[in-house]
Amino acid sequence: MTEIGVVTCGGDCPGLNAVIRAVVVRASAAGARIWGVRNGWRGLAEGDLVPLTRDDVRGLIGRGGTILGTSRMDPYLHGSGLETLRPAADRLDALVVVGGDGSLRTAARLATEGLPVVGVPKTIDNDVPGTDTSFGFDTAVQVVTDAIDRLTTTAEAHNRVMLVEVMGRTTGWIAAYSGIAGGAEAVLVPEVPYDLEELADSIRRRHRSGRPYSIVVVAEGVPGPDGRPVVAGEDSLGFARLGGVAHALAPRLEELTGYEVRVSVLGHLQRGGSPTAYDRVLATRMGVLAAELALEGRTGTMTALRGDEVVAVDLDVVREEPRGLPPSRYRLASWFFA
Ligand code: F6P
Repeated sequence: MTEIGVVTCGGDCPGLNAVIRAVVVRASAAGARIWGVRNGWRGLAEGDLVPLTRDDVRGLIGRGGTILGTSRMDPYLHGSGLETLRPAADRLDALVVVGGDGSLRTAARLATEGLPVVGVPKTIDNDVPGTDTSFGFDTAVQVVTDAIDRLTTTAEAHNRVMLVEVMGRTTGWIAAYSGIAGGAEAVLVPEVPYDLEELADSIRRRHRSGRPYSIVVVAEGVPGPDGRPVVAGEDSLGFARLGGVAHALAPRLEELTGYEVRVSVLGHLQRGGSPTAYDRVLATRMGVLAAELALEGRTGTMTALRGDEVVAVDLDVVREEPRGLPPSRYRLASWFFA
Protein backbone atom coordinates (compact mmCIF):
# COMPACT_ATOMS: atom_id res chain seq x y z
CA MET A 1 0.00 0.00 0.00
CA THR A 2 1.23 3.52 -0.80
CA GLU A 3 2.04 5.46 2.38
CA ILE A 4 1.62 9.23 2.08
CA GLY A 5 2.46 11.74 4.82
CA VAL A 6 1.18 15.29 5.16
CA VAL A 7 2.85 17.92 7.34
CA THR A 8 2.15 21.62 7.99
CA CYS A 9 5.25 23.67 8.76
CA GLY A 10 6.05 27.24 9.85
CA GLY A 11 3.45 29.87 10.77
CA ASP A 12 -0.17 28.81 10.37
CA CYS A 13 -2.40 30.24 7.67
CA PRO A 14 -6.11 29.97 6.81
CA GLY A 15 -6.61 27.04 4.41
CA LEU A 16 -4.18 24.52 5.92
CA ASN A 17 -7.02 22.26 7.05
CA ALA A 18 -8.59 22.46 3.59
CA VAL A 19 -5.31 21.12 2.11
CA ILE A 20 -5.11 18.30 4.68
CA ARG A 21 -8.72 17.37 3.90
CA ALA A 22 -8.09 17.40 0.14
CA VAL A 23 -4.94 15.26 0.40
CA VAL A 24 -6.74 12.71 2.57
CA VAL A 25 -9.88 12.56 0.42
CA ARG A 26 -7.99 12.27 -2.90
CA ALA A 27 -5.24 9.89 -1.75
CA SER A 28 -7.58 7.60 0.18
CA ALA A 29 -9.85 7.37 -2.88
CA ALA A 30 -6.82 5.87 -4.66
CA GLY A 31 -6.32 3.34 -1.86
CA ALA A 32 -3.32 5.00 -0.19
CA ARG A 33 -2.77 5.17 3.57
CA ILE A 34 -2.34 8.72 4.84
CA TRP A 35 -0.30 9.79 7.85
CA GLY A 36 -0.64 13.19 9.47
CA VAL A 37 2.68 14.41 10.87
CA ARG A 38 2.07 16.42 14.03
CA ASN A 39 3.76 19.77 14.77
CA GLY A 40 5.77 20.27 11.61
CA TRP A 41 9.25 18.82 11.07
CA ARG A 42 9.49 18.17 14.82
CA GLY A 43 6.76 15.51 14.55
CA LEU A 44 8.66 13.73 11.79
CA ALA A 45 11.86 13.82 13.86
CA GLU A 46 9.96 12.39 16.85
CA GLY A 47 7.96 9.86 14.82
CA ASP A 48 4.74 11.58 15.88
CA LEU A 49 2.50 10.41 13.01
CA VAL A 50 -1.24 9.76 13.19
CA PRO A 51 -3.32 7.86 10.63
CA LEU A 52 -5.87 10.08 8.85
CA THR A 53 -9.03 8.77 7.26
CA ARG A 54 -11.82 10.46 5.38
CA ASP A 55 -13.83 10.52 8.60
CA ASP A 56 -11.09 12.44 10.40
CA VAL A 57 -11.29 15.31 7.90
CA ARG A 58 -15.04 15.77 7.65
CA GLY A 59 -16.16 19.36 8.26
CA LEU A 60 -12.61 20.71 8.07
CA ILE A 61 -12.80 22.90 4.99
CA GLY A 62 -13.71 26.11 6.79
CA ARG A 63 -11.68 25.66 9.95
CA GLY A 64 -8.67 27.93 10.57
CA GLY A 65 -5.34 26.81 12.03
CA THR A 66 -4.18 23.24 11.40
CA ILE A 67 -5.46 20.07 13.06
CA LEU A 68 -1.91 18.72 12.83
CA GLY A 69 -0.28 21.60 14.68
CA THR A 70 2.85 23.29 13.39
CA SER A 71 6.25 24.41 14.62
CA ARG A 72 9.23 26.38 13.42
CA MET A 73 11.63 23.49 14.08
CA ASP A 74 14.07 23.12 11.17
CA PRO A 75 15.90 19.80 10.59
CA TYR A 76 19.03 21.61 9.37
CA LEU A 77 19.17 24.34 12.04
CA HIS A 78 18.17 22.02 14.87
CA GLY A 79 19.49 18.72 13.57
CA SER A 80 21.42 17.05 10.80
CA GLY A 81 18.92 17.21 7.93
CA LEU A 82 17.27 14.04 6.69
CA GLU A 83 19.14 11.92 9.26
CA THR A 84 17.20 13.75 12.01
CA LEU A 85 13.90 12.75 10.39
CA ARG A 86 14.62 9.04 10.19
CA PRO A 87 13.25 6.45 10.74
CA ALA A 88 9.75 7.98 10.34
CA ALA A 89 10.67 9.59 7.01
CA ASP A 90 11.71 6.20 5.60
CA ARG A 91 8.18 4.80 6.15
CA LEU A 92 6.70 7.23 3.63
CA ASP A 93 6.50 6.85 -0.15
CA ALA A 94 5.82 10.57 -0.39
CA LEU A 95 5.46 13.51 2.00
CA VAL A 96 3.23 16.49 1.21
CA VAL A 97 4.86 19.51 2.84
CA VAL A 98 2.57 22.51 3.26
CA GLY A 99 4.83 25.46 4.02
CA GLY A 100 5.95 28.99 3.32
CA ASP A 101 9.16 29.81 1.49
CA GLY A 102 11.41 28.87 4.46
CA SER A 103 9.82 25.45 5.04
CA LEU A 104 9.68 24.75 1.30
CA ARG A 105 13.38 25.63 0.96
CA THR A 106 14.06 23.09 3.70
CA ALA A 107 11.86 20.60 1.81
CA ALA A 108 13.83 21.25 -1.40
CA ARG A 109 17.06 20.59 0.46
CA LEU A 110 15.67 17.37 1.95
CA ALA A 111 14.59 16.34 -1.57
CA THR A 112 18.23 16.52 -2.70
CA GLU A 113 19.06 14.10 0.15
CA GLY A 114 16.41 11.72 -1.17
CA LEU A 115 13.21 12.59 0.72
CA PRO A 116 10.28 12.21 -1.73
CA VAL A 117 8.44 15.50 -1.14
CA VAL A 118 5.64 17.41 -2.83
CA GLY A 119 5.41 21.05 -1.74
CA VAL A 120 2.25 23.10 -1.32
CA PRO A 121 2.85 26.86 -0.88
CA LYS A 122 0.97 28.57 1.95
CA THR A 123 1.34 32.04 3.34
CA ILE A 124 -0.67 35.15 4.07
CA ASP A 125 2.36 37.16 2.86
CA ASN A 126 1.94 36.04 -0.80
CA ASP A 127 5.71 35.98 -1.21
CA VAL A 128 6.43 32.34 -2.18
CA PRO A 129 8.24 32.33 -5.54
CA GLY A 130 6.91 30.21 -8.41
CA THR A 131 3.19 30.63 -7.80
CA ASP A 132 0.93 33.54 -8.75
CA THR A 133 -0.63 33.47 -5.31
CA SER A 134 -0.87 31.35 -2.16
CA PHE A 135 -3.95 30.50 -0.14
CA GLY A 136 -4.18 32.54 3.06
CA PHE A 137 -3.43 35.82 1.29
CA ASP A 138 -7.02 36.46 0.22
CA THR A 139 -8.26 35.84 3.77
CA ALA A 140 -5.67 38.21 5.27
CA VAL A 141 -6.57 40.93 2.77
CA GLN A 142 -10.27 40.50 3.63
CA VAL A 143 -9.57 40.78 7.38
CA VAL A 144 -7.53 43.95 6.88
CA THR A 145 -10.12 45.44 4.51
CA ASP A 146 -12.86 44.88 7.11
CA ALA A 147 -10.63 46.52 9.72
CA ILE A 148 -9.97 49.52 7.45
CA ASP A 149 -13.72 49.95 6.90
CA ARG A 150 -14.21 50.09 10.67
CA LEU A 151 -11.20 52.31 11.34
CA THR A 152 -12.36 54.76 8.68
CA THR A 153 -15.60 55.59 10.50
CA THR A 154 -13.87 56.19 13.83
CA ALA A 155 -11.09 58.19 12.12
CA GLU A 156 -13.76 60.33 10.47
CA ALA A 157 -15.65 60.83 13.76
CA HIS A 158 -12.50 62.14 15.50
CA ASN A 159 -10.65 63.83 12.60
CA ARG A 160 -7.69 61.54 13.09
CA VAL A 161 -4.98 59.89 11.04
CA MET A 162 -4.99 56.11 11.53
CA LEU A 163 -1.80 54.17 10.93
CA VAL A 164 -2.79 50.56 10.29
CA GLU A 165 0.15 48.17 10.58
CA VAL A 166 -0.21 44.90 8.69
CA MET A 167 1.88 41.76 8.23
CA GLY A 168 3.74 40.69 5.09
CA ARG A 169 7.36 40.33 6.23
CA THR A 170 9.63 41.88 3.59
CA THR A 171 6.81 42.42 1.09
CA GLY A 172 3.90 44.83 0.73
CA TRP A 173 1.26 42.55 -0.82
CA ILE A 174 -1.19 42.63 2.10
CA ALA A 175 -0.69 46.38 2.60
CA ALA A 176 -1.20 47.28 -1.07
CA TYR A 177 -4.20 45.01 -1.71
CA SER A 178 -6.04 45.95 1.48
CA GLY A 179 -5.16 49.60 0.88
CA ILE A 180 -6.76 49.41 -2.57
CA ALA A 181 -9.79 47.48 -1.29
CA GLY A 182 -10.25 49.72 1.75
CA GLY A 183 -9.68 53.00 -0.09
CA ALA A 184 -6.65 54.01 2.02
CA GLU A 185 -5.21 57.51 1.66
CA ALA A 186 -1.66 56.11 1.56
CA VAL A 187 0.13 52.76 1.69
CA LEU A 188 3.74 52.26 2.77
CA VAL A 189 5.44 49.10 1.49
CA PRO A 190 9.01 47.82 1.84
CA GLU A 191 9.50 47.72 -1.95
CA VAL A 192 9.04 51.49 -2.37
CA PRO A 193 11.00 54.09 -0.33
CA TYR A 194 8.81 56.64 1.41
CA ASP A 195 9.26 60.27 2.38
CA LEU A 196 7.45 61.11 5.61
CA GLU A 197 7.39 64.84 4.86
CA GLU A 198 5.74 64.23 1.49
CA LEU A 199 3.23 61.94 3.16
CA ALA A 200 2.52 64.61 5.79
CA ASP A 201 2.03 67.25 3.06
CA SER A 202 -0.47 65.12 1.18
CA ILE A 203 -2.39 64.36 4.40
CA ARG A 204 -2.47 68.10 5.27
CA ARG A 205 -3.74 68.97 1.79
CA ARG A 206 -6.48 66.37 2.08
CA HIS A 207 -7.56 67.48 5.57
CA ARG A 208 -7.61 71.15 4.56
CA SER A 209 -9.74 70.34 1.54
CA GLY A 210 -12.58 69.21 3.78
CA ARG A 211 -11.81 65.54 4.41
CA PRO A 212 -10.06 65.81 7.79
CA TYR A 213 -9.30 62.13 8.43
CA SER A 214 -6.95 59.61 6.79
CA ILE A 215 -6.09 55.93 6.73
CA VAL A 216 -2.46 55.03 6.13
CA VAL A 217 -1.64 51.32 5.76
CA VAL A 218 1.92 50.45 6.80
CA ALA A 219 3.51 47.08 6.02
CA GLU A 220 5.48 45.69 8.95
CA GLY A 221 8.61 45.38 6.78
CA VAL A 222 8.80 49.13 6.05
CA PRO A 223 11.95 50.64 7.60
CA GLY A 224 11.55 52.94 10.59
CA PRO A 225 12.60 56.62 10.72
CA ASP A 226 16.27 55.55 11.09
CA GLY A 227 16.07 53.52 7.86
CA ARG A 228 16.31 50.17 9.65
CA PRO A 229 13.64 47.44 10.00
CA VAL A 230 11.67 47.75 13.23
CA VAL A 231 11.77 44.48 15.13
CA ALA A 232 9.96 43.10 18.14
CA GLY A 233 12.54 40.51 19.20
CA GLU A 234 13.48 37.23 17.56
CA ASP A 235 11.54 34.11 16.62
CA SER A 236 12.54 30.63 17.78
CA LEU A 237 14.97 30.29 14.85
CA GLY A 238 16.74 33.51 15.74
CA PHE A 239 15.19 35.46 12.83
CA ALA A 240 14.04 39.01 13.43
CA ARG A 241 10.35 39.25 14.32
CA LEU A 242 9.02 42.32 12.53
CA GLY A 243 6.62 44.68 14.29
CA GLY A 244 6.32 48.20 15.66
CA VAL A 245 7.00 50.41 12.64
CA ALA A 246 3.64 52.21 12.89
CA HIS A 247 4.36 53.15 16.50
CA ALA A 248 7.82 54.31 15.44
CA LEU A 249 6.40 56.57 12.69
CA ALA A 250 3.38 57.96 14.55
CA PRO A 251 5.01 60.69 16.71
CA ARG A 252 6.91 62.17 13.76
CA LEU A 253 3.82 62.10 11.53
CA GLU A 254 1.82 63.80 14.28
CA GLU A 255 4.51 66.47 14.55
CA LEU A 256 4.67 67.01 10.78
CA THR A 257 0.92 67.11 10.17
CA GLY A 258 -0.28 68.69 13.39
CA TYR A 259 -3.11 66.14 13.47
CA GLU A 260 -3.83 63.42 16.02
CA VAL A 261 -2.34 60.10 14.87
CA ARG A 262 -3.49 56.73 16.23
CA VAL A 263 -1.99 53.31 15.60
CA SER A 264 -3.75 49.99 15.05
CA VAL A 265 -1.58 46.88 14.77
CA LEU A 266 -3.71 44.05 13.36
CA GLY A 267 -1.21 41.25 14.10
CA HIS A 268 -2.33 37.64 14.20
CA LEU A 269 -5.97 38.50 13.53
CA GLN A 270 -4.81 38.41 9.90
CA ARG A 271 -3.87 34.75 10.18
CA GLY A 272 -6.54 33.32 12.45
CA GLY A 273 -10.01 32.06 11.72
CA SER A 274 -11.90 30.79 8.76
CA PRO A 275 -10.48 31.00 5.21
CA THR A 276 -12.43 32.89 2.54
CA ALA A 277 -14.25 30.86 -0.12
CA TYR A 278 -11.45 31.73 -2.58
CA ASP A 279 -8.79 30.34 -0.23
CA ARG A 280 -10.85 27.22 0.50
CA VAL A 281 -11.10 26.46 -3.20
CA LEU A 282 -7.44 27.23 -3.94
CA ALA A 283 -6.28 25.12 -0.98
CA THR A 284 -8.52 22.27 -2.13
CA ARG A 285 -7.20 22.44 -5.70
CA MET A 286 -3.63 22.42 -4.45
CA GLY A 287 -4.27 19.57 -2.00
CA VAL A 288 -5.88 17.37 -4.67
CA LEU A 289 -3.01 17.98 -7.11
CA ALA A 290 -0.42 17.35 -4.37
CA ALA A 291 -2.08 14.00 -3.59
CA GLU A 292 -2.05 13.06 -7.28
CA LEU A 293 1.63 13.99 -7.62
CA ALA A 294 2.42 11.92 -4.51
CA LEU A 295 0.44 8.95 -5.85
CA GLU A 296 2.22 9.16 -9.21
CA GLY A 297 5.66 9.44 -7.57
CA ARG A 298 6.16 12.90 -9.12
CA THR A 299 8.09 14.20 -6.12
CA GLY A 300 10.54 17.12 -6.00
CA THR A 301 7.61 19.22 -7.23
CA MET A 302 5.41 22.00 -5.87
CA THR A 303 1.82 22.90 -6.68
CA ALA A 304 1.47 26.40 -8.10
CA LEU A 305 -1.21 28.68 -9.45
CA ARG A 306 -0.25 29.85 -12.93
CA GLY A 307 -2.93 32.01 -14.44
CA ASP A 308 -6.13 30.11 -13.72
CA GLU A 309 -4.55 26.66 -13.56
CA VAL A 310 -3.06 24.80 -10.62
CA VAL A 311 0.00 23.03 -12.00
CA ALA A 312 3.11 21.18 -10.84
CA VAL A 313 6.42 23.10 -10.94
CA ASP A 314 9.93 22.14 -9.90
CA LEU A 315 10.31 22.54 -6.13
CA ASP A 316 13.68 24.22 -6.65
CA VAL A 317 11.79 27.39 -7.66
CA VAL A 318 11.54 28.18 -3.92
CA ARG A 319 15.28 28.87 -3.83
CA GLU A 320 14.56 32.14 -5.64
CA GLU A 321 14.10 35.43 -3.77
CA PRO A 322 10.73 36.05 -2.05
CA ARG A 323 8.23 37.46 -4.54
CA GLY A 324 7.87 41.18 -3.91
CA LEU A 325 5.00 43.48 -4.84
CA PRO A 326 5.44 44.54 -8.50
CA PRO A 327 5.89 48.31 -9.03
CA SER A 328 2.82 48.33 -11.31
CA ARG A 329 0.60 47.15 -8.45
CA TYR A 330 1.92 49.91 -6.19
CA ARG A 331 1.30 52.47 -8.93
CA LEU A 332 -2.27 51.22 -9.17
CA ALA A 333 -2.77 51.74 -5.42
CA SER A 334 -1.18 55.19 -5.56
CA TRP A 335 -3.71 56.61 -8.07
CA PHE A 336 -6.15 56.66 -5.17
CA PHE A 337 -3.90 58.16 -2.47
CA ALA A 338 -4.98 61.21 -0.39
O1 F6P B 1 4.86 34.64 7.44
C1 F6P B 1 3.62 34.85 8.02
C2 F6P B 1 3.72 35.84 9.13
O2 F6P B 1 2.41 36.03 9.66
C3 F6P B 1 4.36 37.17 8.77
O3 F6P B 1 3.49 38.03 8.08
C4 F6P B 1 4.76 37.68 10.13
O4 F6P B 1 5.86 38.57 10.05
C5 F6P B 1 5.16 36.42 10.85
O5 F6P B 1 4.52 35.34 10.19
C6 F6P B 1 4.76 36.40 12.30
O6 F6P B 1 5.25 35.24 12.87
P1 F6P B 1 4.90 34.74 14.34
O7 F6P B 1 3.59 34.03 14.28
O8 F6P B 1 6.02 33.83 14.67
O9 F6P B 1 4.82 35.95 15.21
